[in-house]
Amino acid sequence: MAQLTGSKKIKTAVFISGTGSNLKSLILFSKLKKSPISINLIISNNSKSKGLKLGNIFKIKKKIFDFENKNLTETKIISELKKNKIDLICLAGFMKILSKKFINNFKGNIINIHPSLLPKFKGLNTHERVIQNKERYSGCTVHFVNSKLDSGKIVIQKKVKINKNDTPKTLAKKILTQEHILYPKAILKIFSL
Ligand code: GRF
Repeated sequence: MAQLTGSKKIKTAVFISGTGSNLKSLILFSKLKKSPISINLIISNNSKSKGLKLGNIFKIKKKIFDFENKNLTETKIISELKKNKIDLICLAGFMKILSKKFINNFKGNIINIHPSLLPKFKGLNTHERVIQNKERYSGCTVHFVNSKLDSGKIVIQKKVKINKNDTPKTLAKKILTQEHILYPKAILKIFSL
């Protein structure tokens, strides 16, 4: 696991594919004195990710990888991470599944946020399935990444109540607001001395 040494912050890369609202919350958090991390690199598989604009705004290096050849792409990403001395990877709405080999390379140093109360509702279309299943609660989870999808050790969760008139869209919005609070909290929890 990445370690805090002296006053140096843990160099972090955030992987995104879309809007990047979690990336934004992590960037804002990283600016706080109490934050153990600095965001040094943004990686996306999608050149159209809105979140990439945050790289310009906050002057953070960004790199786009097309994933056409996954093996080759991952090798390139690993070398980019090494070049930038990255010690922690935060997946934030990253829609590609990383290989076992990649994950083992960064063992214990990759975390992810998932919009459900894991181990329930792993994978995609979470909110649709939650509503269809007539659940009363959903939420979000930050977990360590292992080679099985959405299955690594849970760091922290936040429960959200589902109202009768909630749709997948309204639920997604409610949960996303909580995600923005939960991801920084998880990082503080992991690195609290
Ligand atoms: C979040 O709900 C995250 O949990 C899920 O994808 C969404 C990404 O949103 N994996 P954003 O790009 O951070 O706004």
